[in-house]
Parts: sequence; structure tokens; C-alpha cells
Amino acid sequence: MIERDNQITSEKSTAQDNKLDVALRPKRLADYVGQKDVTMNLNVSMQAAQKRQEPLEHLLFYGPPGLGKTTLANIVASEMGVNIKTTSGPAIEKQGDLASILTNLKENDVLFIDEIHRLKTQIEEILYSAMEDYALDIILGKGPAAKSMRLDLPRFTLIGATTKIGSLSAPLRDRFGHIHKLDFYSTEEVSQILKRNAHLLDMQVSDESLTKIAQSSRKTPRIANRLLKRIRDFATVDDIQGIDLPFTESCLKTMGVDLLGLDKTDRQILITIIEKFQGGPVGVNAIAAAAAEDAETIEDLYEPYLLQIGFLDRTKQGRVVTENAYLHLDIQMPGKKQTKQIKLFEQD
Ligand SMILES: Nc1ncnc2c1ncn2[C@@H]1O[C@H](COP(=O)(O)OP(=O)(O)OP(=O)(O)O)[C@@H](O)[C@H]1O
Ligand SMILES: [Mg+2]
Repeated sequence: MIERDNQITSEKSTAQDNKLDVALRPKRLADYVGQKDVTMNLNVSMQAAQKRQEPLEHLLFYGPPGLGKTTLANIVASEMGVNIKTTSGPAIEKQGDLASILTNLKENDVLFIDEIHRLKTQIEEILYSAMEDYALDIILGKGPAAKSMRLDLPRFTLIGATTKIGSLSAPLRDRFGHIHKLDFYSTEEVSQILKRNAHLLDMQVSDESLTKIAQSSRKTPRIANRLLKRIRDFATVDDIQGIDLPFTESCLKTMGVDLLGLDKTDRQILITIIEKFQGGPVGVNAIAAAAAEDAETIEDLYEPYLLQIGFLDRTKQGRVVTENAYLHLDIQMPGKKQTKQIKLFEQD
């Protein structure tokens, strides 16, 4: 059974976390670090729309959790000087819910739909004419007497965000003017984000410590921010003013975050595949059942980074643990001579 005490990777967060998250969220494009291709393209689209006095084209952001999709949607609205209305796929239950959101928008407003891949089909269908023609087609009545009515909508911009681009229907995907993929961040980029945030949180953190936290952040700003906030808590409890590298390393070790940023759950997933399925190939549902974890959580939250660092391979037959993962975990790979073990924690 996996221990669920580690909040660093998980999607759950406390109210205090949420408050700080909002405070740390950059409000201008200039403060948004990295994702240069995306921000460059956005800048051009925004300037063009403003010059033509038209609403911005509909945008879709996709990529793993915590890489800045919601942040970017809010930045786009504030840079365009328009209001943003935020909702999510699962929150829109009835056609009427979406109709009322759409009719309440003002000209050029942004409608942000998070987890857009989870929209129900009949709701998605309303979006088609709304996106294409700024019109709302509603059916009044039922059966042969049913009448269709068309309502004009203000010209708005839809921004969709999803962690699962593959689950989005083709007709919906095709109605976005631009589709932007957000990538994992480099250590330098995460360090830069952390430096700004340490300053905002009034923390004195050495550059080496910032780099160490960045290296342990799974290349993900949300996780970097969580680590920084936990370290701030440890420092407060211990009455520590300046945060140096040894203190940072000991905090990371206490949190169970290893040198590559893997936490207990990541290691448990790999160990489960190794011990129960001889390293794979194995399907995600079987891993989930054996590791007492939710399949969707594994796919959305844990797997992308394990794939990114080359600890997991995705084959047609299922997931396979790679030799590098065996080395990192210091587990003998069947049929391979064990070479030197990679350290898990700096202070081991
Ligand atoms: N490029 C960036 N520069 C600075 N901070 C960032 C950047 N990207 C993300 N962050 C920080 O990381 C946090 C998480 O980002 P955000 O909520 O936008 O991610 P997301 O992609 O919407 O995640 P999810 O898929 O879970 O909704 C934000 O609070 C923000 O402070
Ligand atoms: Mg989001």
C-alpha cells in the first residue's frame, strides 16, 4: 500500500497552499518564465488582435499538470485587458449552464474551460457554433414540434486547457486557432521562477539551494513552489533565517524527495512494476490495482515525468521499467550485471 502522506506531487492542496499559489502566480507575460515558443506566438497573436480590434483567436493549451496552463490563460486575459470567466469541463452539467455562461460574456472576453476534454458530448456540440459563428443554437420543445432558434453571442475568446489532448474530439480540436503544447522546464528556468517566488515570500535562499530545489521539482513549477513553501515551513519552525544547501538537502530528504525529484509514490510505482510484473510490459490498470493507486492519477501525474526522464517506456504491450530506473533504485535488473548504484539522496 502506498503511503499518501506526501503532498508534493499530489493534486491535493490545502487552503493555505491555494492562497500562496495565487500570490505567486505571475500576472504579466514578462514574468512568465520559459515556454518561449508559446509566449512568442501568443505575443504576435495578441498584438495582431489588438491592432485589428478583434477578439483573440480561440486557444488550446495542453501538457502535464502544473506547467502553467491556467496561469497563461489568466495572463492572456490581463494582457488583452479583458475579463476572464473560468469554468471546467466537469462543472458544466447541462446545456443551459453553458448557454448562460456564453450569453453573459462581454465582447472580447475570455472564457477559460479547464479540463476541456471532460465536456459532455451534447455540451461540446453547443460550443461548435459558439466558437465558429459566435452563435448559440438552441432547440425549443421536443419531437416533431421542436423548433431551433439561433441567438447571437458576443465575440469572445475560448481558452481550453487539457492534460489529455488525445481525449479531445477532432471537431472541437479543429475549432481552435492555435494549439500550444507546454513542455517541462529546464533547471535554470525553474530556478528563475523560484528566485522570484523566494523574494515574494520574503525568504533568503542561497542560489545553490534554489538550484537544488529546481533539480528536485520534476521540471514542474507547481512542484517547485510546493517544495519552496515546505522548506519555508521547516525554516520557520527551526528559526532559520538564511536557507543554505545543507538545510535544503535535509528538508528534501525529510520530505522523501530524492535527487531526481521522485517521491515515495514514484518509487513505489516503479518498484511495483519490477517486483510484481518483472519490470513489465504491463498495462496501467494492472499497475494501479497492484500499487493501490488510481489509474488516471498514474497516467496524468506520475507517468509523464517518469517517461520524460527515461525511467519508463511506453510500448504497445504496456509500460516497461528501464535500466536507468533499476540503477537509480539500486535493484538488480534480470540478465544485467549491476553497475554502480546511483545515490538517491545527497546526504546518504
Ligand atoms: N512559466 C511560469 N513562470 C512562473 N510561474 C509559473 C509558470 N508556470 C507555472 N507557474 C507557477 O506554477 C503554478 C502552477 O501553474 P498552473 O496552475 O498554471 O498549472 P496548470 O498547467 O494549469 O496545471 P493543471 O493542469 O493541474 O491545471 C502556478 O501557481 C504558478 O505560480
Ligand atoms: Mg490549471
